[in-house]
Amino acid sequence: MRLTAGEQAMLDGAGGQAVQKAMDLLLRYGEALGAERLVDTNNVCATVGATTPFIRDYAAQHPGGMDAVFSEFSLDSSQVVKIPKVKAYSSHLQQGIDPNHAEQQGVTAELVQIYRKGEAFVGGLGVQLLNTCTPYQVGNVPVKGEHCAWMESSAVIYCNSVLGGRTNAEGRESAGAAMLTGKIPYWGYHLDQHRLGTHLIELEVDVKDTADWGLLGYYVGEMVQERVPVLNGIRHVPNLARLKHFGAAASSSGGVEMYHLIGVTPEAGSREEAFGGRRPLATLKYGAAERALAYERLNSTARERRVDYVMLGCPHYSIEQIWEVCQLLEGQRIHADTSLWIFTPSAIKQIADRNGYTRIITDAGGYLMTDTCSAFGRVIPKGTKVAAVDSAKQAHYLPAIMGVQAWFGTTAECIQAAITGRWSGRLE
Ligand code: F3S
Repeated sequence: MRLTAGEQAMLDGAGGQAVQKAMDLLLRYGEALGAERLVDTNNVCATVGATTPFIRDYAAQHPGGMDAVFSEFSLDSSQVVKIPKVKAYSSHLQQGIDPNHAEQQGVTAELVQIYRKGEAFVGGLGVQLLNTCTPYQVGNVPVKGEHCAWMESSAVIYCNSVLGGRTNAEGRESAGAAMLTGKIPYWGYHLDQHRLGTHLIELEVDVKDTADWGLLGYYVGEMVQERVPVLNGIRHVPNLARLKHFGAAASSSGGVEMYHLIGVTPEAGSREEAFGGRRPLATLKYGAAERALAYERLNSTARERRVDYVMLGCPHYSIEQIWEVCQLLEGQRIHADTSLWIFTPSAIKQIADRNGYTRIITDAGGYLMTDTCSAFGRVIPKGTKVAAVDSAKQAHYLPAIMGVQAWFGTTAECIQAAITGRWSGRLE
């Protein structure tokens, strides 16, 4: 790769050992990818804290503490180096637990302490502790054309497609190195030609609520895998929550990192613009049969109607979604044998607290949690066998990760399940 004089100086050690290791890592990574150069980035979203049980153990046992964690897991270095403050504007993604609901999540006080130490370390580096998979909901909103280095598939697809930011799905190592250097390999979705549509999806049915957008995303992801779908025929412009659920679903069933909605997303003012004048590799339709197939797949693990656990907030809920839930929940009581956990960024929870939404949820017997989620943190109510979710992504991962059955449906159906303790949803 061609390096600028400044990049070469970092590689030669001008910024200290950690920066040198970060630059070396980016160089090896970029060369493996076939990138010709690096690009400046001042927007990194990554997970670098003590987020998993394995890393928490490592942090607790290693004499180097969190410097050792960053060296090993973000710089690929078994030699412990002192980690300096970050160079690029950086935000932390989701963590492994909600320290304020440790008891409900079955997390010991000792683990909470390790978590808090990790968080203090990361905050001390100058990383914003947004602690969410939806940084774009709480202040990190890239502008069109901004080069970013983001992890977390649901955030990456939102950044590329809805905001017009430019990022590949980075890993803990490359994103950690980008934090320290303000550089990332210039390849993939940073380049115009890779952002163009490949497959045309003609919508033959109306796509309405978030569950519906989840079904559509799930189907599209399965069909196009890692290509760039272009959707035509949208009758109602989707809001943030619907786009969030669509992208999360498409990146789960396939590996979609970028899509276009003609007339809606910023690089798809027209079909011509979305495809860059090229012909689609294939044209697919999404009608009633395709929608039913996606619904069937998402409910394929569910057998028992009894519901132990209702999980909402994947990706982390917006304040609008919390408001909607509260309208369904106010004055109701959750079934004695069922738990309701809703996940949101902690900044949004503060608004929910002030608005009285948290009180409505807790009065009903539920919890509004932050920082993590059931699939990422592997935290579910004890004894859960059957879960209900309104997120295609969570329906995809939760059974595989936690070995539970999962029903997928609308938010209203999930709240109904929380109140009655039974699943009565069906595809309308
Ligand atoms: Fe976020 Fe967890 Fe879903 S981290 S996208 S809520 S799987």
